[in-house]
Amino acid sequence: MLLGSKPRVSLYTVVTTGLGRMKEVDTGKAYRLFYPSVPAVLSASHRKTVSAMPVVSFTALSESPSLVGVSSLPSHTTHKTVIAARRFSLCWLDKKDIRAMAHLASHAGKEGEDKLLSAGLKHHRGKRVDVPVIDAAVAVLECSLTKTIRFGDHELLVGRVKASYAIEDFRDYWSFEVYRPILYTGWR
Ligand SMILES: Cc1cc2nc3c(=O)[nH]c(=O)nc-3n(C[C@H](O)[C@H](O)[C@H](O)COP(=O)(O)O)c2cc1C
Repeated sequence: MLLGSKPRVSLYTVVTTGLGRMKEVDTGKAYRLFYPSVPAVLSASHRKTVSAMPVVSFTALSESPSLVGVSSLPSHTTHKTVIAARRFSLCWLDKKDIRAMAHLASHAGKEGEDKLLSAGLKHHRGKRVDVPVIDAAVAVLECSLTKTIRFGDHELLVGRVKASYAIEDFRDYWSFEVYRPILYTGWR
C-alpha cells in the first residue's frame, strides 16, 4: 500500500485475536454478543390474567436499596400486566424445566389466561408481594415496580426487591451441586 493511500478494508476487519479475524456484526444484533445468558421468568398477575415470559435483558441496578431492571418490549402481554399490576416476580428455573421456558417464549399470553399453568408451571402467591411465584423455581425475587424508563424500542422496568430467596444450593453464591442453569444461546 502506498503511503497516504486509503486502506481498502476497515481497520478492525484485519485485527486478529488469536481465534480468528474480526468481522462486522450488525449493530441491531449487538445484543446477541451477550449470549450465552441465563434467562429468568418475569411474571405478574392482574385480575384474572397471569402473564409470564423469559427475559435475559435484566440486571442488578443497586445493592442498597436492592433494585433490579428488566428491559422489556412494551407490546408483550407480560409487560402490560406488569404495568397494570405495578409489581412483578423474577424466577430462575433449572434446566429440567427448559420445555416450559420454551413454551413461555413461543406463545404470546392472552387476557384472562394463566400462561404459567398453560406452560405446565404451577405457581403460588409471593411471600411479601402479590405476584405469581413458580413452584419449581430455584431462586425468586418479589418486586414492586418503582419506575419505568423508555430506552429506544424497549422500556426498563425498575423493581424494588421486597423478598429474595433461593434453594439450599445457593450459599452466598451458587454451588451448582443441584442447580443446572439454562443457558440461552439464541434459540427460540
Ligand atoms: C431466552 C429468552 C429471553 C428473552 N428475553 C427477553 C427480554 O429480556 N425482554 C423482552 O422484551 N423479551 C424477551 N424475550 C421474548 C419474550 O419472552 C417472548 O416474546 C414472549 O413470548 C412474550 O410473551 P408475552 O407476550 O406473553 O408476554 C426473550 C425470549 C427468550 C426465548
